[in-house]
Amino acid sequence: MGGAYRAGVPSRSLYNFRVLLAFCDEIGFQLAEDFYWFNPAKLPSPIEWVNKRKLRAKDSVNTVWWFSKTNFPKADVRKVLTPYSDRMKKLIEDPESFYTPKKRPSGHDISDAFGKDNGGAIPSNLLSIPNTDSNSSYLQICKELGIERHPARFPSELPAFFIKMLTDEDDVVLDIFGGSNTTGFTAEALRRKWITFEINHDYLSSSVFRFLDGQSSATMQRVLDELSKSDANYFINKTACALNPNNKAKSKAESKAQGELFVFGATAL
Ligand SMILES: C[S@@+](CC[C@H](N)C(=O)[O-])C[C@H]1O[C@@H](n2cnc3c(N)ncnc32)[C@H](O)[C@@H]1O
Repeated sequence: MGGAYRAGVPSRSLYNFRVLLAFCDEIGFQLAEDFYWFNPAKLPSPIEWVNKRKLRAKDSVNTVWWFSKTNFPKADVRKVLTPYSDRMKKLIEDPESFYTPKKRPSGHDISDAFGKDNGGAIPSNLLSIPNTDSNSSYLQICKELGIERHPARFPSELPAFFIKMLTDEDDVVLDIFGGSNTTGFTAEALRRKWITFEINHDYLSSSVFRFLDGQSSATMQRVLDELSKSDANYFINKTACALNPNNKAKSKAESKAQGELFVFGATAL
């Protein structure tokens, strides 16, 4: 969730903090961990406070809350290890000459095990991922067919981190605000089942381009025309597209789909 400014003044809206508290206090979720997606490529905004009047710094961080219903939700950080730093690589190569094990003031016992090669470092909750995609087939096909691309896509690496850390193959990944279906596409690549809801019919229809790599423009256009019908219930490879909520049950029963797309407002569930 991105932060926002109050209208007309350079002070922040508190809506995101209110949502967080409501989720925990009213619904009963626990905040398992808060993550921060740092997008180094993010353009400065809002223009008035950052660019023109130079009163505020550029806001380059989006918050990702990981909520859980239980004390110990399924999770394994070993699935998302990051490359070791050069310093850590040296330590692993030659622990003895590099470091003398001792106790830190914090009480942490830095033993020999610290120099063990675990295949990568534990990731931090600051995820630095540039959002600079300009070559994906989704974008190219949108351009080719003159379709407006989704204006607020996130990079595939963002859902990939959480899908890997929190699920196993064949688990189901749900995105209720699917947009261009980056989440479903990423889940598919990671061999998870997925379900995506999106309230905007056009966004959802064009999101199927993600699964039509290598097809001709004519095929893409035909699929898009098919999906433009308000009651479309359409299969693309293993993906079922039920663009009418009334078709939901039918498509679920018939489909051995890896993933399903629904045009459906999340609030209407
Ligand atoms: C920030 S975008 C998601 C972008 C997506 N992560 C991507 O990479 O393409 C949020 C989406 O939620 C959709 N949306 C808003 N309210 C909704 C609702 N009540 N039910 C379903 N979708 C909704 C919007 O149309 C928008 O496409």
